[in-house]
Amino acid sequence: MRNLLLPQDLPQITYGIRQIVEKGRERETLGYPVIWENIGDPVQKGMMLPEWIKDIIAREVQNNGSFGYCDSKGLPATREFLASKTNIRAGCQITPDDITFFNGLGDAIARLYGLIARDTSILLPSPTYPAHSGAERLRRGKDPLTYPLQPSNNWQPNPDEIRQIVDDNPSISAILIINPDNPTGMVYSREILQEIVEIASDYNLFLIADEIYENLVYDGTMVRLAEVIGDVPGMAMKGISKEIPWPGSRCGWIEYYNKTNDTSFHELCTRLDQCKMTEVCSTTLPQMVIPEILSDKRYSKFLDGRRELLARKMRMLKSRLKTIDDVTCSGGQGAFYATLHFNTELYTRDIDPETLPDTEKALFLKWTNGEDIPPDLHLVYYLLAGTGVCCVPLSGFDSEVAGLRITLLEQHIDRFDYMLDQLLDGLGLVFSRKSSLIQAS
Ligand SMILES: Cc1ncc(COP(=O)(O)O)c(C=O)c1O
Repeated sequence: MRNLLLPQDLPQITYGIRQIVEKGRERETLGYPVIWENIGDPVQKGMMLPEWIKDIIAREVQNNGSFGYCDSKGLPATREFLASKTNIRAGCQITPDDITFFNGLGDAIARLYGLIARDTSILLPSPTYPAHSGAERLRRGKDPLTYPLQPSNNWQPNPDEIRQIVDDNPSISAILIINPDNPTGMVYSREILQEIVEIASDYNLFLIADEIYENLVYDGTMVRLAEVIGDVPGMAMKGISKEIPWPGSRCGWIEYYNKTNDTSFHELCTRLDQCKMTEVCSTTLPQMVIPEILSDKRYSKFLDGRRELLARKMRMLKSRLKTIDDVTCSGGQGAFYATLHFNTELYTRDIDPETLPDTEKALFLKWTNGEDIPPDLHLVYYLLAGTGVCCVPLSGFDSEVAGLRITLLEQHIDRFDYMLDQLLDGLGLVFSRKSSLIQAS
């Protein structure tokens, strides 16, 4: 090429959730099964959408308009419907003009993070869902600034720590909250949210809340950003990928809060909408069916059923984990993930390939050969090679804390139980070796 096509400081973007797939496929080609616990797609994990939801969509497909473009910001009637859903709760009140549709939240995240000035930063939680950290890294050309979620406190963050980080880093202009959180399943307490709002107010920041799992909190106690934000500028990101669930619809939206309370923030929201305009619009069909599906009487029952099943699997996991002293699952009040972390530091030497049969050992050695990989990825490769359970290391979520994430998406309890058998067998081998190494030293 005549000129350099990419900026010289363009960082590598990794996406652990998908990158592990090629290793799993390699195991499958040898005729060994894989239990895919890496990806948060309920449909891929066998969830069947209720017939009544499919009927609504099928009916709307007969409407010729569903094949056309729609308004750049999204269908006015759907934005009106969504605004009224937010306005039912006490808190920030919005109009349809405060909502903009995107082709899934992945698109919304990439657009938003790409637009912000390069020397400005968004403070992200650690661990973080990689769409956020990847977009932040891509814009800034360096690792994102993060605030730690604390495994010892159900993964809730410490607001004093957030305040200190904000104070130490004048480049920070926004704080991200993923609520309920991916990967930990933590749900932010009202008090902590209020303290984060106070920090934003004190330092003139805006807030971003990724609330894509807002209706998947097991006991239903979810405080949304709109309820606590007061007059601080902010935005909530919502969508139907996880809820209906319809990830292939590529449909999500941003709600702007207190847009006009700050001129720079207002300009950011306006520019974001202009970007959408250059792209014409987002997917039309899903927007057409959202009001009918979400307001159907069967919808809340449907969600109740999903929440109950998720909560049951979380209880099963926590109860079965009691057999391994070194591994803990905290958090886990919402979304559909479980994060396991370790009570003592994990080292690659804790993971012994000699405990694997020949073929599995060969796979593990091939994957780990010569690569400088974090211990939790080592563990993930060991579990995948040895047991077929394909999970994601926490290091793939920009986490300082080692661990791994599985999903609660298996639809059949007996198969979920079987996955736990395999996982706990693998973890049991590693952690009994680990404690014997500790005792011997
Ligand atoms: C926290 C979070 N935000 C956003 C997304 C992306 O959602 P979408 O399918 O709308 O792009 C995901 C998907 O896993 C997610 O977990």
